[in-house]
Amino acid sequence: MILSIESSCDDSSIAVTRISDYKLLFHKKISQELAHSEYGGVVPELASRLHAEALPKILEEAKEFLPHIKAVAVTNEPGLSVTLMEGVMMAKALHLALGVPLIGVNHLVGHIYSLFIEQESRLPKMVLLVSGGHTMILDVKGYNDLKVLATTLDDSFGESFDKVAKMMGLGYPGGPIIEKLARQGDPNRFSFPIPLKSSSKLAFSYSGLKNAVRLALEEIENLSRQDMADIAASFQKAAITHLLQKTKKACEIYTPSDFAIVGGASANLALREIFEKECAKRGIPIEFAKLEFCSDNAAMIGRAAIEAYKRGDFIAMEDLKVLPRSC
Ligand code: KG4
Ligand code: ZN
Repeated sequence: MILSIESSCDDSSIAVTRISDYKLLFHKKISQELAHSEYGGVVPELASRLHAEALPKILEEAKEFLPHIKAVAVTNEPGLSVTLMEGVMMAKALHLALGVPLIGVNHLVGHIYSLFIEQESRLPKMVLLVSGGHTMILDVKGYNDLKVLATTLDDSFGESFDKVAKMMGLGYPGGPIIEKLARQGDPNRFSFPIPLKSSSKLAFSYSGLKNAVRLALEEIENLSRQDMADIAASFQKAAITHLLQKTKKACEIYTPSDFAIVGGASANLALREIFEKECAKRGIPIEFAKLEFCSDNAAMIGRAAIEAYKRGDFIAMEDLKVLPRSC
């Protein structure tokens, strides 16, 4: 069994996965969303303190598996340095106590393997990763074998939802809040600009769209619930249209035979529906992770770590470093 730890942002999570058949034997996550909600975003120092409380509590619940652990895996890149450190410290302590090897897992690779929890992997694939920290199109050939085809020039997709929610005083994380509000809104009331629409660049940009929302908000006197819903719906439509336009472009250039969307924001049902329709039109198979594994979790880190384990891809304790910006 592999014990895996995830603490790259605001979710403390530990999983135990059986190596032979990928079975998830234990998985628990304690999310800090409520604690950060009043600040409209993640406060790193607070997040690190909460990981220090939550991770040992979760580990205690997984105690029965410790004698069977063959390797300890941990997210060590990319993420918030002070929160990554909490997981890495725990992993190193377990490595010493249990005498088993260490595996460092890239968080983005973890998101890709969220597609294959309790399953064999199916690669190569073109993958759209949409989270709070990243918006990327990746050409994934195998474990740790990926090429970035497109990334964001400024904010990420998920981050733009967080910022729009913050502007409207709706709390954190903004993604699910905006998605829910958008269901009651008119997506055509505001015509927000689609970022990089007339640029041939294979890249994303969300800061302009966010600013357009800010200006629209400033122009409305006595903002009603319906105004907010219309803004949410119009913003979400523009944000997803931008993803779709650039992904279509990447498909024209790279003609993938398989496609998947991963990351916390891939839980957005409007996004899923639009991409499913477009992929069906083109006969490209599309996959998503199960909803429960879209946002940060240790199950995906454990699943990815099995690939490393099979390759003997271990790392010495002194070489396992926290790398906040690796991609
Ligand atoms: O993957 P994740 O849990 O953490 C990072 O690695 O960043 O993604 C969290 C991000 C947040 O920005 C959150 O607002 C966004 O994903 N998100 C969503 C939805 N659910 C979560 N964005 C849009 N629609 C959603 N339903
Ligand atoms: Zn993530």
